[in-house]
This record gives sequence, C-alpha cells and structure tokens, in this order.
Amino acid sequence: MSDQRAEARKKIQLLKNLPTLPGMLEQISRAVDSKRFTVADIGKLISRDQVLSAKVLKLANSAFFGFSRKVGSLTQALMLLGFDVVKGLILTSSVFEMMKERDMGLWEHSMGVATASGLIAQAIKLPDAEEASLAGLLHDLGKVVLRAQMDEDMQSIVELVEVEGLSIRQAEAEVLGFDHSLVGQWLAESWKLPQELIEPIRWHHQPGEARQNPLLTAVVHLADIMVRGYGYGDGGDPWVPALDRGALQLLNLTPQKLERVVDGICQKLAGAGGDMGGQ
Ligand SMILES: [Fe+2]
Ligand SMILES: [Fe+2]
Repeated sequence: MSDQRAEARKKIQLLKNLPTLPGMLEQISRAVDSKRFTVADIGKLISRDQVLSAKVLKLANSAFFGFSRKVGSLTQALMLLGFDVVKGLILTSSVFEMMKERDMGLWEHSMGVATASGLIAQAIKLPDAEEASLAGLLHDLGKVVLRAQMDEDMQSIVELVEVEGLSIRQAEAEVLGFDHSLVGQWLAESWKLPQELIEPIRWHHQPGEARQNPLLTAVVHLADIMVRGYGYGDGGDPWVPALDRGALQLLNLTPQKLERVVDGICQKLAGAGGDMGGQ
C-alpha cells in the first residue's frame, strides 16, 4: 500500500473513535458472540440509549424499508430482522447523523438506493430483502466518511467534478489515488460488518469483481444506477454510472419485473418528499 493510501486509511479508521459511533456496539457484538445472552437481553442493552433506539426504530419503520410489519421494539427488531441488520441500522443512524446537515442530497441518494435495492431483491425473490435494503443504504458509506474526514481533499474533488466534468469516482481517484468504494470497504471491515454487506459496498461500481456475493452486489449496482437515472438525491456528480451487462444478466429480470421495480421506485420516491425516515 502506498504511503498516501496508508495515511488515508489511518485517518479514516480514526473515525472509529468519533463520539458519534456508539461504543456499545462492541459490547453488543460481544454479547451476541458469547451466546450467553437472549435476544431480549440484547434488546435491553441497545434500549439503554434511548435516542439511538428511537432512531433505529424510526428507520426500521420508514417507508424505505417496506417491512410488512410494524417494528415496535428493539427486541422485536432483533427477532424480525436479525442482529446484523439491526447492527447496520445502528451504524447507519450514527454515521449518517454527521451527514444529514452537511449533505442532505447524499442521504436522499442512500435512502433511494436502499428502497430500490429492496424492490429489486423482492422482484428476483432474494430470501433477504432487508439485507438488500441495508446494503443499498450503506453502499456509499465511503462518500460520507470522505466528506467528514477529508475536507480539503473533498474540495479538490468537488472542483474536479464541477470544473472538469469528471465523475465523482474519477475525481476521487485523481485526488486520492482510490475511490469511495475502497474507503467503504475499509470502514465496513473495521466495524466488522457482515461479509455479505462488504462486497456490495466495495464493488457496487464494478459488480463483476464480487466473488462471494455477486447477486447482492448486482442488486445494489442496478439500484444505484436507477436512482441516479431517476434523479433522486445527489450522488456527488450529475452523471449516471455505466450499467454492467453481466450484473444485469445475473439478476435475470424480465421486462415485466423490471417494470414493476421502476413503478415501485417512482411510487415510493415520489411520495418521499423531505421526510427521509427519521434521521
Ligand atoms: Fe458509489
Ligand atoms: Fe451511489
């Protein structure tokens, strides 16, 4: 790894120490691993932080996730969604907290991609549509972090996009030597997010590279493009990323299914307005 990369990685991983990330997440992970705790115990542990619990519940119940049942408590959330999804929601609430004021457009983009990923997953009958929504929500995690941690570099990146017309990924690569998908992977790994979520974060722009979870990666890839094409939120540049044919083939969406997905996206996003699910 070049010096520049190593230095950037260090800077980004320091984010772990920011107060916005709940220290109790480790505690909870340990409790889950030890298997000595029941779901109710863990629910109670999370509920101690009331502000966070309220946010997690609001997010879980937002129209974007489209869970069929109302999630009334954290214990219920753990039972219905599983620990990994709840952990993802906790991280999302914490990390995106720092983004929402400075960058509503990216928050909207992320929520849009969560919605579209869930709809695509349902259309192709993936067993775990919630996981797909979460992968969509977190796919541009690297952008959030770059904006929060590397202010000066971000200014140069934005300038390249605005003045030279580069895509955000090209501009990131030019200034930093890597792009937000790698940053997202670093972070996802250091937070020990489940493997299934790491590949969609890392490869949503190059889905052909995914080895362990190519299907979920393809779902997020297509969702990202659809939301950019629809013009919802702000992904950082005015361009719609190129569609990977292999990913589209893998998803095996019939024209009818695709139409249903498009209708669903239009319906949900048109109705979303400014209420982005409780952040
Ligand atoms: Fe991206
Ligand atoms: Fe994106």
